[in-house]
Amino acid sequence: MEAPPRALDLLPKVDLHCHLEGTMRPTTVVELARKNGVPLPTEDPAELYAYSSLDEFLAVFWLVQSTLADRDDWARLAYEAVTDSARHGVVHQECFVTPARHRDGGQHLGAVLSGIAEGLDAAEAETGTTCRLIVDMDRAFGPEAGRQLVEELVDLRSARSPGTERVIGVGMDSTELGVDSTSYAPAYDVARRAGLRLTGHQGENSTAQQVADCIDALGLERVDHGVPVLDSAVLTARMVEERIPITVCPTSNVVVAHCFDRLEDHVLPHMRAAGLLATVNTDDPALSDLDLGREYAAVSRAFGWGWEQMVQVALDGIEASWLDDSEKADLRALVAMTEEPSR
Ligand code: HPA
Ligand code: ZN
Repeated sequence: MEAPPRALDLLPKVDLHCHLEGTMRPTTVVELARKNGVPLPTEDPAELYAYSSLDEFLAVFWLVQSTLADRDDWARLAYEAVTDSARHGVVHQECFVTPARHRDGGQHLGAVLSGIAEGLDAAEAETGTTCRLIVDMDRAFGPEAGRQLVEELVDLRSARSPGTERVIGVGMDSTELGVDSTSYAPAYDVARRAGLRLTGHQGENSTAQQVADCIDALGLERVDHGVPVLDSAVLTARMVEERIPITVCPTSNVVVAHCFDRLEDHVLPHMRAAGLLATVNTDDPALSDLDLGREYAAVSRAFGWGWEQMVQVALDGIEASWLDDSEKADLRALVAMTEEPSR
C-alpha cells in the first residue's frame, strides 16, 4: 500500500536533478521581469507552464532564465530554491545552473556563482539543507561555447573566486534533437583534468545507444534522465555492474518531455527491478508545480510503493550523490531516525 504523503514530505531526501532556474517561484519571475524590463506574455507565468514537448518547455525555461540580470537576482533565486525545498524534506541537493545565455548577454560567471553562493549560504544557515552546484553546458550554444564555459570555471576555481567552492561537477542539458552530445568531449576533458565530477542529460529525447556513447566518450559518472536505458541489455548490465546512477525525474518525463502518457506508465519500476541505481528527483519543480515531497508521494501512489520502498528510494539518492562517505553516513543516519508512519 502507498505511503502517506505527509510522511514522505518529512522523509529526509536528496535531489540530484534540479535546475536552479527551474525552481523560480512564479511571483519571483514576475518581480524580476518587472525589475529587469523583461516582457512576459502574461502576468501569471503559471499560465505558460503547459508543454507539448521538451523544446517547447525549453522556450519557457529560457524566458524564466532571462529574468536573471545581476548578482542579487541569482542570490535571491538560490535562497528561495533551498528554503522552498527544505520545507519538503530535502536535506541535500546538487543543483544545475546553466549560465550560457547569461554569459552571452555579458554577465560574468564569477558574479553568477558568487551571487548564488550568497543565497545558498543564507539558506543553509537557516535550514541546514546543503546545496552544491553542477555547472551545465547548454547544448543550444554548441560544444565550443561549452568548452569555453568549463575553461572559465576551472580558471575561476584556481583563483578561488567566491562561489566556485560550491561547484562539484559539470553537466550538459537543453535540447537533444539533432545534437551529437559526444562532441562535448573536449569540455568534459577539461573538467575531468580539473577534478570535477561529470554528469549529463541524455535519454530524454534520444536513444539508449546515445546514452551509451556519452558514457564512453565523455566519461559520465551519472546520467540525467536516461529514460531509454532498458532498451539496451548491454547498457543496462553495464550500468548495474558499475552502479552508474540515473537521476530520473518521473513527473517531468510525463509533463515536459512526454515520454509517457501517465506516471503509471513510467519505466522507473522496471529500472529499479533490473538493479539500476535509478533515483527520484524533481527537474524543474516550479515550472511543473512540484516539490520532492509531492514527487515521492506521486511515485508511491503510481507504483503502489509503501514506506519501506520509499525509504530505499531515499537511501539510493544518498548513494548516488557526490557527497563523501562521512556525509553520506550522516544523511543515512537521518533517514534511519525517521519513524515509520502509523496509520
Ligand atoms: N532537459 C533539458 N534541459 C533542461 C531541462 C530538462 O529536463 N530542464 C532545464 N533544462
Ligand atoms: Zn533536467
